Amino acid sequence: MRIIAFYSPKGGVGKTAAAVNMAYLASRENISTLLWDLDPQGAASFYLAGAEMVKGRKLSKLLEGKSPIARFIHENVYPNLDFIPAHSSFRNFDIKLEQEEGHNALKDLLAPLSEDTSLVILDCPPTLSRLTEQVLEVADKVYVPLVPTWLSLNSWNQLREFVKDKKLGNKKLRPFFSMVDRRKNLHREILAQGSELFGHQVPAAVPYASAVERMGEEGQPLELLAPNSPAAVEFRKLWVSIRKDLWAR
Ligand SMILES: Nc1ncnc2c1ncn2[C@@H]1O[C@H](COP(=O)(O)OP(=O)(O)OP(=O)(O)O)[C@@H](O)[C@H]1O
Ligand SMILES: [Mg+2]
Repeated sequence: MRIIAFYSPKGGVGKTAAAVNMAYLASRENISTLLWDLDPQGAASFYLAGAEMVKGRKLSKLLEGKSPIARFIHENVYPNLDFIPAHSSFRNFDIKLEQEEGHNALKDLLAPLSEDTSLVILDCPPTLSRLTEQVLEVADKVYVPLVPTWLSLNSWNQLREFVKDKKLGNKKLRPFFSMVDRRKNLHREILAQGSELFGHQVPAAVPYASAVERMGEEGQPLELLAPNSPAAVEFRKLWVSIRKDLWAR
């Protein structure tokens, strides 16, 4: 089982849109995939609502070990795609985790899934919390959407420092460009410098596109909504690079 996360300390940069699209693309390749919406605001549910109106369950029973994680999973929202929706009680995840200092509770929760699941995708809230630390630790790779501005590059560098300081695995962070507007000089400039800035090629540059915005309204992944759109092409590129990262194929 591989675990990846979509994370940025910045809000509204395209984490959830990417997480949902990657989950769908993975499932379409017969990879048994679980998407876990860790954000108490629960945006991922909107992007998948077309498949089934899904409601989350309270977290306390899970964390107390009274309820196995399987009971939180909505199976096959699409073939091969299982989903754990958010619940407002996920706000308390951090408090619970603080109380259990010293071990990675998230890792324990995910362990029983490994028999049936090949890929877990964690959609994270834009906070730098104990939960985020555990996500950064447990994930094989962490994908970070970056809107091409200097400020985002700043926070990218801060995130790298944080991961380094906490010894969470410096090499697991993977940036990609998000909400790119090629009419803006700054966006074009940063895109052109991408591989110099990061020391390797950036796998995708998802454009700012109304098709992506519509995912929330229509409750569908982009691959179903607008497979020929330039944004869908970039999401597919991102998926190909993730597959290579995880399975070298
Ligand atoms: N490439 C894009 N083009 C246009 N709109 C986008 C794009 N990506 C995301 N959006 C829109 O921007 C908003 C935020 O996107 P999304 O929920 O994916 O970001 P997020 O980083 O997960 O946000 P949060 O930090 O609140 O969890 C949504 O309304 C979404 O529809
Ligand atoms: Mg989100």
